[in-house]
Amino acid sequence: MGANPLTPPSAQRAPAAAGEGASASAVLARIDWAAIGAELDAWSAARIPGLLTPAQCAETAALHADDSLFRSRIDMRRHGFGQGAYAYFAYPLPPLVQALRAAAYPPLAALANRWRARLGDPALPETLEAYLAQCHAAGQRRPTPLLLTYGEDDYNRLHQDLYGELVFPLQMAVLLSRPGEDFEGGAFVLSEQKPRSQSRAEVVSLSQGDAVVFPVRHRPAEGARGPYRLTLRHGVSRITRGRRTTLGIIFHDAA
Ligand SMILES: [Fe+2]
Repeated sequence: MGANPLTPPSAQRAPAAAGEGASASAVLARIDWAAIGAELDAWSAARIPGLLTPAQCAETAALHADDSLFRSRIDMRRHGFGQGAYAYFAYPLPPLVQALRAAAYPPLAALANRWRARLGDPALPETLEAYLAQCHAAGQRRPTPLLLTYGEDDYNRLHQDLYGELVFPLQMAVLLSRPGEDFEGGAFVLSEQKPRSQSRAEVVSLSQGDAVVFPVRHRPAEGARGPYRLTLRHGVSRITRGRRTTLGIIFHDAA
């Protein structure tokens, strides 16, 4: 999608500035991941309250203005994805984004590997660096973390963020704006489809700085004859007033 030259994969190993993302990493270290796993097994979505501070939310949302940080900007309407805009960060990622992605990867990989074992799929590496090495070897070299901005009447159609053969099973979105103050409407929505059945909708209420963790494409559920795959899609309902900004953390890179 972007016309920018590819950044070599080694660039993603740029070290985070001291302190950047430390508080978010501390929040991630304190989380009861077994409870997050149970929530995902039950409802396909789990909330992490207060992952980012209001100041970190404001700083991250403000990155949007700096073109040099992004490899590609997408007008969603032009692609039929909905209405609104998003922008993929370039490598090296901003320190906070890099720190969040690296710190969230190991516990999410552990949850994903539990699912993959149930489905008979091979285990994923334990670190982001090792996983990205697999992505890059498979030709998926472009970074996928992104900032999404929606104005009044914007929305995001239900979709899956797939960018190649390699798909990390979970992803994360962090709400950077304040519901009720900066915007109204604009709920995170997830649809869960059981084979040969109708879909179930899940709406996740987020406050500023909260993250939601959800499956990218599938998750296993237990049936009478063993595990089967539920199909997930996610999107955002219409923003009825104001402006809503989100940070999306996707772990697989794009072809
Ligand atoms: Fe998405």
